[in-house]
Amino acid sequence: MSLKYMLYEVKDHVAIMTFNRPEALNALSPEVVADLGAALDQAAADPDVRVIILTGAGEKAFVAGADIKVMSQYSPLQAKNFAVWGQAIVNKLGTIPQPVIACVNGFALGGGCEIALACDFIYAADTARFGQPEIGLGIIPGFGGTQRLTRRVGLGWAKELCLSGVMISAAEAKEIGLVNRIFPKNKLMEETLKTAKIIAAKGRVALREAKTAVEQGCDMDLLKALAMEADRFTICFTSPDQKEGMNAFIEKRKPEFKGQL
Ligand code: CAA
Repeated sequence: MSLKYMLYEVKDHVAIMTFNRPEALNALSPEVVADLGAALDQAAADPDVRVIILTGAGEKAFVAGADIKVMSQYSPLQAKNFAVWGQAIVNKLGTIPQPVIACVNGFALGGGCEIALACDFIYAADTARFGQPEIGLGIIPGFGGTQRLTRRVGLGWAKELCLSGVMISAAEAKEIGLVNRIFPKNKLMEETLKTAKIIAAKGRVALREAKTAVEQGCDMDLLKALAMEADRFTICFTSPDQKEGMNAFIEKRKPEFKGQL
């Protein structure tokens, strides 16, 4: 796999993917979006990867949104194609079996905020800033912002952010439930890795089923969602890690999940 705008490293079952176009604040040109898709496909197929961390290179930004210079030339049809294609790649963050943590080290604006929202949860530097500034460009969010933001923080905040385009601080983002935890900037990766390693030590089947149950269930009515949960609970009992987890409890020892599917 050759990636130009994404750094990709795997260590101790954790894949760290870093948007790497710092001179443009990691803005999402089509090449950057394509690299995100390729990196996610690579991780999805790698049994060694149990957790993914997504972050941005440079001091200032996670991702400052879609590349405005490229988008400024789009016809309506090109804009539609970009949104549909970009959404399909961003959707991979939710459908990939491994958990994905957004490690937001700076600006997460427009498409950057939308990518963070499509991750399973967000950790942020205390200096990070979030926003959907598209309205100031005469457009609306196109990579899922109007939908995932509403599901994450509710109608009122989603509308305030999408209609005003104002940026909010990491502290405000935490207060409204957009961000799970904030850390001093120089501790952000270390703290994110701590959680990633806790998750990576769990069984792969259970991780996949827990992620998918939460992801799929939030768009279903409760009875259907509960039936889906029961099916996914059942699938866990086909995995060696279920035997190991329960035997370890009974034998009063730590489980050693092997990560078989
Ligand atoms: N697209 C293209 N280039 C961008 C960019 C973007 N989204 N964001 C930053 N850059 C570039 C700048 O043009 C600049 O390049 P040059 O040095 O060649 O001029 C470089 O990155 C550094 O940026 P600034 O000088 O602007 O840095 P700053 O610290 O003064 O400001 C900022 C930082 C507030 C994030 C500002 O860059 C900014 O407002 N960026 C645009 C944010 C935005 O509107 N994002 C939404 C895009 S639309 C979208 O994402 C649609 C969608 O839903 C998919």
